[in-house]
Amino acid sequence: MQLSDLRALFLHRQSCRAFDGRGVEDDILKEVCSAALLAPSACNAQPWHLIAVRGDKMREVVPCLQGMGMNKFASKAGALVAVCEGASNLTARLGGKLKGTDFTANDLGILTAHLVLAAEGAGLASCILGWRDEDKLRAALGIRQKVRIPVVVALGYAEADDPIRPKKRKPVEETFTIL
Ligand SMILES: Cc1cc2nc3c(=O)[nH]c(=O)nc-3n(C[C@H](O)[C@H](O)[C@H](O)COP(=O)(O)O)c2cc1C
Repeated sequence: MQLSDLRALFLHRQSCRAFDGRGVEDDILKEVCSAALLAPSACNAQPWHLIAVRGDKMREVVPCLQGMGMNKFASKAGALVAVCEGASNLTARLGGKLKGTDFTANDLGILTAHLVLAAEGAGLASCILGWRDEDKLRAALGIRQKVRIPVVVALGYAEADDPIRPKKRKPVEETFTIL
């Protein structure tokens, strides 16, 4: 694997807001999620759980992402993957306390990045959705404990005429320093 291949993948991945409504097959969902779950985590605690939703169940979950008229496009996603907090381990919890760091939040972010890139590698379009009603989301997903669900990732197939947009990023000179 060359950096140039990864860079091409990074440039091709973009937040899709034009899904064509086709569903995502269960085997592809499982392949993408199991690849993402290879992500690193503090003390290898893997404090996460991915819950995939597709088919009729989408109708219960999608509205949890659409408050105040946001994320209308999510109705045409082919599947949703809720990135949920899961059980951590003692070392990570202690380490986080001692260092004043929320390792779990970092770990869930890294998992999310792996998920969208794995999806891209599988030919799926994706969009990370942080605009959600967590209480409603937990209820729709049948989660009783107050676990955090920082994002839901919409997956699916982009409409054929959805162009790959040039990336809008701050200049590297502003956001990278070598000392
Ligand atoms: C934590 C997080 C939450 C986001 N939430 C939303 C969202 O609710 N709706 C949306 O349309 N895009 C959402 N995005 C997508 C960002 O707007 C997008 O990644 C950013 O503008 C860069 O564009 P790109 O992903 O196409 O490269 C979210 C991204 C992240 C990382």
